[in-house]
Amino acid sequence: MTATATIGLIGLGTMGAALALNIAEKGFPIAVFNRTTATTHSFVAGAGELAQHLTACDALTDLVAAIKKPRAIILMVNAGDPVYQQIAALRPLLDKDDLIIDAGNANFQDTNRRAADAAAAGVLYLGIGVSGGEEGARHGPSIMGGGPKAAWDRVAPIMAAISAKYQGIPCATWMGEAGAGHFVKTVHNGIEYADMQMIAEAYGVMRDGMGMSAAECGAVFQRWNGGVLSSYLIEISGQVALAKDPGTGAAMLDVILDRAGQKGTGRWTAVEAQHLAAAIPVIEAAVTARNLSSRLDERRAGEALFGAAPVALAKGTITIDGLESALIAGKIMCYAQGFALLSAASTAFGWGLPMPAVANVWREGCIIRSAMLNDMATALAATPGTNLMLAPFFASLLKANHGALRQVVAQAALNGLPVPALAAALGYFDMMRTARSTANMIQAQRDFFGAHGFERIDAAGAYHGPWGLHQG
Ligand code: 6PG
Repeated sequence: MTATATIGLIGLGTMGAALALNIAEKGFPIAVFNRTTATTHSFVAGAGELAQHLTACDALTDLVAAIKKPRAIILMVNAGDPVYQQIAALRPLLDKDDLIIDAGNANFQDTNRRAADAAAAGVLYLGIGVSGGEEGARHGPSIMGGGPKAAWDRVAPIMAAISAKYQGIPCATWMGEAGAGHFVKTVHNGIEYADMQMIAEAYGVMRDGMGMSAAECGAVFQRWNGGVLSSYLIEISGQVALAKDPGTGAAMLDVILDRAGQKGTGRWTAVEAQHLAAAIPVIEAAVTARNLSSRLDERRAGEALFGAAPVALAKGTITIDGLESALIAGKIMCYAQGFALLSAASTAFGWGLPMPAVANVWREGCIIRSAMLNDMATALAATPGTNLMLAPFFASLLKANHGALRQVVAQAALNGLPVPALAAALGYFDMMRTARSTANMIQAQRDFFGAHGFERIDAAGAYHGPWGLHQG
C-alpha cells in the first residue's frame, strides 16, 4: 500500500465516521480503520464523492502503511480500556515522531498517563476534546487540544480546517500540555450538565408551577433565544418542547421518561473540583440531579409517602420574565464556577491555560455555545484572574438579575418545586457577597475539638480559644 493519506482515523462509530467525512470534505486524504472490516467498507461505499479522499484499511498494518510519515492517527474509540488497547496494538507499528491523537471524551488523568508513556516510547500523543455531537463532528466541532505544542502545530491546519468558525475564526485551540485539552472538555461538559439542568428547572416551574403545556414552554424558549440567553441549548430546548410524538400525537416531552443518563464527564468535573478545592456548586447540583433522576422507584415511593408538593404557584409570584432573569443570573454563576475551576487546575498542573481562548473556542461548534461566551472572553482578557461574576460586565448583569433568581428560588421552595441548580447558584451568590462569613464558627469548633488553631481578625499569628488545654 502506498502512503497517500495525510492522516489516519481508527473507530468509525457515529462520531468517528462524522469526523472522517469532515476531514475528507476539507480535502485531506484520510485512511480509515474499524475493528469490524465490513463497517469500514460500508462507510467508504456510502461516502459518495468524498470516497476519493478515503482509503479503507482492513488491518492496522494497512492503516499505518497508508499514512505519510511522520504519521498522525486519530483514535475515535470509547473512552477507557478501548483506548489503552488500541494504543497497545498500534504502538509497535509506529515510528519515532509518529503521533497518536485521542479525540474521545477521555479522563484527563488517563491522557496524562498515556502522554507520559508515549513520550517514554518516543512517539507523540495528543488528547483533544471535540464537542458538538455528531452534527458538530461532521460540519464543524469545537476542538480543545492538549499535548506537546509541536505535535499540535503539526495537525493544527487540519484541526482549524475541520473546526467550527466564529466570525471566520477557527474554534480549535491548543490549551496546554498533556491532559489540558481533555480537562477543558470535561469542564465544558460539567457546564453543559449545569446549563441543561437549569433550563430543565425553568421548564419544571412553567410546567408544574404555571400549568403550561410543552408547546407553551417551547414558545418561551424560542423567545428567550432571541435575548441574553441566546444559545444552542435554549434553541434545542425550544425545538424539543414543540415536537410531537409521531406515534401518539402527544407532546414528545410528555412521553419521555424522566430518567437522565450520563457517561461520566459531569461527575469527573465535580470530582476534580473537590480535589482542587474549587467551588462549583451549580455543576455539582446538576450532577446530583441527574443521579436522583435515575432513582425513579425511590422518587415514586417518596411521592406516595409524603404526597406530591402543592406546586401550583399563585398568579404572578413567578413571571416568565423573572424566570428568564433567574436563568441569566444562574448561567453567569455556573460559568464563573467553571472558569474558576479551570484556573485552579491551570495553576495546580502548571498548564497556563489561556482562559480567554477557552471562552473563544466555545463560541461556536460546541454544545454550550452561546452569545454570552464572547462577552466572557472579553471579560477574562480584561480582568485576568478575576472571578467572572466580579468582572464589570457580568457584575452589572448580576445586579440586574439576582433579585429575580432569589424570587424564583424562594417561590419554588415555598411551593415544593425542585430547583436545585438555581438554588445552588443563589447560595453561591450569597456566599460570594458576604465578606464576614460564618467560618469563624467552624474555626472555633475545629479548635475546640482538635486544637487546630485559628487566626484573629485583630492580630497576626495562630491562636487557640479559651476552651481547653491548648489555650494560648
Ligand atoms: C459534546 C457533548 C458530548 C456528549 C457528552 C455528554 O460536547 O459534544 O458533551 O461529548 O454529549 O458525552 O454525555 P452524557 O450526558 O451522556 O454524559
